[in-house]
Amino acid sequence: MQTSKLYLLLCLVAVMTSAQNERNTSNVSSKKTELTKPKLTVSPSETVWEGDDVTLSCKSESKQLEQTKLIYTFYREKEPRSQIILQENKILSIQQSHAGMYWCMVEAKERTAERKESDKVQVTVNESPMATLTPSNTYVYIGDRVKLDCKIDGSFTGWKYRWYKRDKKARDEHFEKFTENTYKFEAVTESDSGVYLCSAYKADSPHFSKNSSAVTVTVEGRTAKLEMKAERTDGKIFEGDQVSLQCQVTGNPVGWTYELYKTTDKNQYETKAESTFTISSASLSHRGEYWCKAVKGTLYFSSSPVPLQVSESPMATLTPSNPYVYIGDKVKLDCKIDGSFTGWKYRWYKRDKKARDEHFEKFTENTYKFEAVTRSDSGVYLCSAYKADSPHFSKNSSAVTV
Ligand SMILES: *[C@@H]1O[C@H](CO)[C@@H](O)[C@H](O)[C@H]1NC(C)=O
Ligand SMILES: *[C@@H]1O[C@H](CO)[C@@H](O)[C@H](O)[C@H]1NC(C)=O
Ligand SMILES: *[C@@H]1O[C@H](CO)[C@@H](O)[C@H](O)[C@H]1NC(C)=O
Ligand SMILES: *[C@@H]1O[C@H](CO)[C@@H](O)[C@H](O)[C@H]1NC(C)=O
Repeated sequence: MQTSKLYLLLCLVAVMTSAQNERNTSNVSSKKTELTKPKLTVSPSETVWEGDDVTLSCKSESKQLEQTKLIYTFYREKEPRSQIILQENKILSIQQSHAGMYWCMVEAKERTAERKESDKVQVTVNESPMATLTPSNTYVYIGDRVKLDCKIDGSFTGWKYRWYKRDKKARDEHFEKFTENTYKFEAVTESDSGVYLCSAYKADSPHFSKNSSAVTVTVEGRTAKLEMKAERTDGKIFEGDQVSLQCQVTGNPVGWTYELYKTTDKNQYETKAESTFTISSASLSHRGEYWCKAVKGTLYFSSSPVPLQVSESPMATLTPSNPYVYIGDKVKLDCKIDGSFTGWKYRWYKRDKKARDEHFEKFTENTYKFEAVTRSDSGVYLCSAYKADSPHFSKNSSAVTV
């Protein structure tokens, strides 16, 4: 009994199945259950980068219908409960604004009443990585070395770089031949002043970075100046003085060399890596006009000429208070330096019988006094002056006989 019931049921199922198959061949759209629920797939993936080309595919598994007779429509949820119909199922260069919920609908061509919708798929669009432009310096001088570094946030490899310089019309000129991540100027010129930006691109995804922010590089001109430094506060230079001539170039002096010239002399006086030239003991032959040149590679700046005046050493004059004196007289010897000098000390000498000048080492005043002369004070005296803070001497006074 149990077995016969089961047999009957199996027979019924078999009859129904065959009837279905007959109708399948006779009339295509007469059946409502032929369309299966479609599936939306997103390629290359549901999470993509800005700029990727994204393709949406919708597939209904309907075996009984020829795919050509099916119409697919793609939708995007604009806001919850509002939708837009996409014109294309391919999005070229996807943007952030394209992110959202997508789904598709399939319908049979002959019978639009029969339609099926897919599940919704979230499409996420990652922002392109950011490019950052870092200059080694933004305020430089002609001839300086400048490096611009372009970097992409995140750990990406295999990028090439685009470099732009903004022109006067605010158009960004692309340095098409240059694709490295570092742009170097070995020696900037004034025309390198300007606004730079960079970005990066790659053959695979993500395809491009965002542009870096614009960076302004200002290139300043330079001038050279020759400055003369003497040890004396009044700026006067005497024979024997030390004189320094400093060639100064504006801006960063790294990598510059200096040349010193005398205008009357065609030949270069001296070349140096340091900017200061020192004449340790000026002589009258050093008199003249000097100028200098600051040099870096083929670039150079010349100073204006500066005069160097070397004065003869001041004269010391020895004056006795009385030309003829007698034993017991009070006598004063005055030593004086021509010109207005201060802070000098004095040297006193007395010539001995062998014509050697004996130096009174302990006495440095400008007046040498005898309260009461004796016979042995008779003799030849001379004086000179010197300054403690410089190796400078006055000329010796002429010898005075007392
Ligand atoms: C299929 O059947 C429907 C009615 O069920 C009819 O309207 C339609 O014309 C038929 N199509 C064909 C191709 O016979
Ligand atoms: C039913 O129709 C589909 C296509 O519409 C066809 O591939 C299939 O062979 C048909 N079934 C039978 C049993 O004829
Ligand atoms: C980056 O800047 C260049 C030059 O202005 C421009 O042509 C390009 O469209 C910009 N790229 C992006 C992703 O904004
Ligand atoms: C001045 O005279 C002294 C003593 O003769 C001598 O040693 C010195 O060199 C002289 N100085 C100058 C500047 O001639």
